[in-house]
Amino acid sequence: STPVLTIDGPSGSGKGTISRIVAQRLGWHYLDSGALYRAVGIAAGWSDIDLSDASALVRCTFDTVVRFRDDAGGEPRVIVNDVDATDELRTETAGAAASAIAAIPEVRAALKDRQRAFRQLPGLVADGRDMGTVIFPDAAHKVFLTASAEERAERRYKQLKDKGVSVTMDGLLREILARDARDASRTVAPLRPADDAVHIDTTGLPIEVVVARVLDIVVG
Ligand code: CDP
Repeated sequence: STPVLTIDGPSGSGKGTISRIVAQRLGWHYLDSGALYRAVGIAAGWSDIDLSDASALVRCTFDTVVRFRDDAGGEPRVIVNDVDATDELRTETAGAAASAIAAIPEVRAALKDRQRAFRQLPGLVADGRDMGTVIFPDAAHKVFLTASAEERAERRYKQLKDKGVSVTMDGLLREILARDARDASRTVAPLRPADDAVHIDTTGLPIEVVVARVLDIVVG
């Protein structure tokens, strides 16, 4: 069957960057599952749906059409209900909405088949939190990426500074620790590595080194 490489991990572990590069090198498809949760989160906002209204959010999940369009050289554009929402999807507001709706079991269930549909020849790199545990438990290759909280805060700091957003390292570190605690303690799909996942601690490792290690796992 079509090979799948799952890459799960906490936010700031570098899974987005690594997954995209690895998919490109392998010539495989790429699933950014976080973008699906973010898309439903912002679509709910567009429709003024309250983040506590579970049944409206489930309807919104079914109604939200998400398309990924390759952008020569850059990150793929994400089209939500015919609107290019790429920039809005990256905001903290979208991240917070995603994390709220991701805690609703019916929303996760509604996105299951849509995520599995990305499994197409010649292969798929699936990036998220539960790719190796729930969505593709039979994946041939599973990676769990981590990095120290300090390193993840630093990466985020650089990203935001490049965009001209003013933030403090202290504030970011606090945010990341709070998010870790929330992610680990939530009862719905808590972040945990698959039993058969290979762990890679990316603290202090350049992107190229992590990419090489992941490719090694796939190609042997
Ligand atoms: O970089 P970060 O991990 O924060 O962002 P993301 O991968 O775009 O995911 C945004 C949020 O969606 C996460 O904080 C998770 O709560 C949720 N999510 C999830 O529950 N399951 C997934 N497979 C992907 C994302």
